[in-house]
Amino acid sequence: MTRIFSGVKPTGHLTLGNYLGAVRRWADVDQHRADALFCVVDLHALTVEHDPGRVRRLSRQAATLLLASGLDPKLCTVFVQSHVDEHARLSYVLECVASDGEMRRMIQYKEKAARERTRGGSVRLSLLTYPVLMAADILAYGTDEVPVGDDQTQHVELARDLAVRFNQRYGHTFVVPRATHPVVATRVMNLQEPTSKMGKSEDVGPGIVYLLDEPDVIRKKIMRAVTDSGRDVVYDREGRPGVSNLLEILAACESGNPEGLAGVYESYGSLKKDTAEAVVELLRPVQEKHRELCADPAYVEGVLRDGAEKAREMARPRVDAAYRAIGLLPSA
Ligand code: TYM
Repeated sequence: MTRIFSGVKPTGHLTLGNYLGAVRRWADVDQHRADALFCVVDLHALTVEHDPGRVRRLSRQAATLLLASGLDPKLCTVFVQSHVDEHARLSYVLECVASDGEMRRMIQYKEKAARERTRGGSVRLSLLTYPVLMAADILAYGTDEVPVGDDQTQHVELARDLAVRFNQRYGHTFVVPRATHPVVATRVMNLQEPTSKMGKSEDVGPGIVYLLDEPDVIRKKIMRAVTDSGRDVVYDREGRPGVSNLLEILAACESGNPEGLAGVYESYGSLKKDTAEAVVELLRPVQEKHRELCADPAYVEGVLRDGAEKAREMARPRVDAAYRAIGLLPSA
């Protein structure tokens, strides 16, 4: 059976981008067709300036939102990365097949390191090695497919490279994974700055729709989205990034296609209104389920405990095999 692994990082509140680019597909499709693991990757949240209490709260909230989005612990494994030691254990070994040059070439590293420096902070070493830990997340489970948004493509490519290199040097140990992307909304853009990704950790504000935003807040954010000069509704990501982003969001909500929808609308106003209502309706059941789950924290904790136990059992044999293959003495 196909093995799927993916994760979400608790560095901010989950956004519409996370949902349309990744989480919705995990719930609607991936968990039903494969042996799937979904992880709150909390170790990754420590790679930039962080507040310990906030990371803990966001980890719990992200896990609750994954379940509220429809991940079913009877169908898939949901867990928190730091509860399974195998991720960090494997990451070190993979650092020994990765080079510092390939880490420094990672786009997200360059962007985030520059941001940390302009804020006057230092760049954590873990930010540089982040993609190796991500490769460990994926490779520990013999993953075939990694369902992610477009921004994670380069990281999954690195996981592939490390798997191939390790296998060539030390014998076949890892499955070589591949990234999969949604058909539309693989990169949802910031509503106020439609040439930048709608990212949860980037900033707060009017350009980002959070999964837990109140319906009226969602409506306001979408109605105030920046559109482009020109009046006609055209799908052209380069030339008309603002309106194209709205068309993609609407298409993703309605399982339509953005080009087709462009022909339906004559004004930006009606496109915004329909997009706002579609997003409100899309998120309504997630928000309701989230409220229910918040009233039952013991259930969520139980799911995470069982998930970590299952994940540990799945990861340990392959990580042990990697330790033996690279030359480490097995413990008696
Ligand atoms: P993260 O937490 O930034 O995002 C989680 C998932 O949401 C997708 N995504 C988007 N998709 C479309 N439009 C957007 N604006 C948008 N923003 C985010 C991301 O592509 C991702 O699929 N490094 C990863 C977490 C990670 C991981 C892994 C993923 C760690 N280990 C192993 C897969 C496998 C990250 O920061 O995702």
